[in-house]
Amino acid sequence: MESQSYFKALIIILIALIGSTQAQLQLGFYAKSCPKAEKIILKYVVEHIRNAPSLAAALIRMHFHDCFVNGCDGSVLVNSTQGNQAEKDSPPNLTLRGFGFIDTIKSVVEAECPGVVSCADILALTARDSVHSIGGPYWNVPTGRRDGVISKAEEALLSLPAPFHNLTTLLTLFGNVGLDVNDLVLLSGAQTIGVSHCSSIATRLYNFTGKGDTDPTLDNEYAKNLKTFKCKNINDNTTLIEMDPGSRNTFDLGYFKQVVKRRGLFQSDAALLESSTTRAIIARQLQSTQGFFAEFAKSMEKMGRINVKTGTEGEIRKQCARVNS
Ligand code: HEM
Ligand SMILES: *[C@@H]1O[C@H](CO)[C@@H](O)[C@H](O)[C@H]1NC(C)=O
Ligand SMILES: *[C@@H]1O[C@H](CO)[C@@H](O)[C@H](O)[C@H]1NC(C)=O
Ligand SMILES: *[C@@H]1O[C@H](CO)[C@@H](O)[C@H](O)[C@H]1NC(C)=O
Ligand SMILES: *[C@@H]1O[C@H](CO)[C@@H](O)[C@H](O)[C@H]1NC(C)=O
Ligand SMILES: *[C@@H]1O[C@H](CO)[C@@H](O)[C@H](O)[C@H]1NC(C)=O
Repeated sequence: MESQSYFKALIIILIALIGSTQAQLQLGFYAKSCPKAEKIILKYVVEHIRNAPSLAAALIRMHFHDCFVNGCDGSVLVNSTQGNQAEKDSPPNLTLRGFGFIDTIKSVVEAECPGVVSCADILALTARDSVHSIGGPYWNVPTGRRDGVISKAEEALLSLPAPFHNLTTLLTLFGNVGLDVNDLVLLSGAQTIGVSHCSSIATRLYNFTGKGDTDPTLDNEYAKNLKTFKCKNINDNTTLIEMDPGSRNTFDLGYFKQVVKRRGLFQSDAALLESSTTRAIIARQLQSTQGFFAEFAKSMEKMGRINVKTGTEGEIRKQCARVNS
């Protein structure tokens, strides 16, 4: 009797295990259903990033925004419709670029295998391949994500970190999606590529406490320089500034070097100097680019798993900018 119920319990556990492994991401998820998918994406990226290397920054940021809002489910790619303001049209979207790039890759993949490869996976793979093809780190992208059918501007506002957030708030927002302090520091290192708008630092430069002042945690010399040559007034919302000056298309330790010199552009960059834990993580990165790449890869893979939809959840969108009807 006892061994029988023991046996039954074992069977139930086995079934549960099989069920749950089916719903996991896996490397090469499309190996049978669309064997060329990953190659098609890589080829397209390699051919096009060469002429537009700055897109790599846009695409990794887009993947980050996708994952933080509703999980990595391609919801960042969806257009607003008459009754719905989508994530794309939320204030933190500023400079999200590269939507056309993803939409085109999707159409090339659709031509090969219609209705098989999700937009969420295409975004994750494209971000990885584009960063790697400009000489940045490589990370594993297990696939099998399904596309979400919900995309709401308000959720982007609540879930995404903002440039004025302090360390406590950043840790809370990362913690909300299962990422820790190590991930926060490592992933922030992606800001070694790309650009910001002056509007993202206007208050920090020109009206920090509402008295026409500059954030004292920003290196004084650097602040003066930015105000004189780049962001010349508080209302400039078009000028772009490099986050890692002189190497905006090179994935290196430049971001961390800037941060320790108190030249990170945002308060959220300065926040990484607020605790001995975060300072130690930065110091460790500064010892070796290879070490940074290896740790970065781990955090990216972790980020790519945030609240993914798998199995029969969600859908495989036909066009990334529109949920299937
Ligand atoms: C820690 C919290 C973070 C905050 C508060 C933050 C904030 C920002 C802001 C305000 C910009 C400039 C937007 C603009 O003015 O155009 C930016 C750019 C960028 N961020 Fe972050 N970010 C964070 C984390 C991350 C993460 C985790 C990644 C990727 C893994 C990332 C990658 C980038 C890249 C590559 C750019 C440049 C985009 C471009 O050139 O188009 N950031 N970020
Ligand atoms: C970002 O959102 C604003 C509204 O907040 C919208 O006007 C703009 O077109 C959006 N940008 C992109 C790239 O979708
Ligand atoms: C961080 O910011 C939050 C929200 O603005 C605030 O409530 C909190 O007191 C701040 N924490 C620190 C340590 O400054
Ligand atoms: C600076 O901030 C204060 C307080 O929020 C505000 O009243 C003032 O209009 C701001 N100045 C500018 C130039 O935006
Ligand atoms: C940028 O600033 C100009 C002039 O100050 C203003 O007309 C425009 O609406 C602003 N754009 C955004 C996106 O805030
Ligand atoms: C989504 O919006 C973009 C920009 O407005 C537009 O070019 C594109 O055709 C739209 N895509 C779909 C599927 O509605």
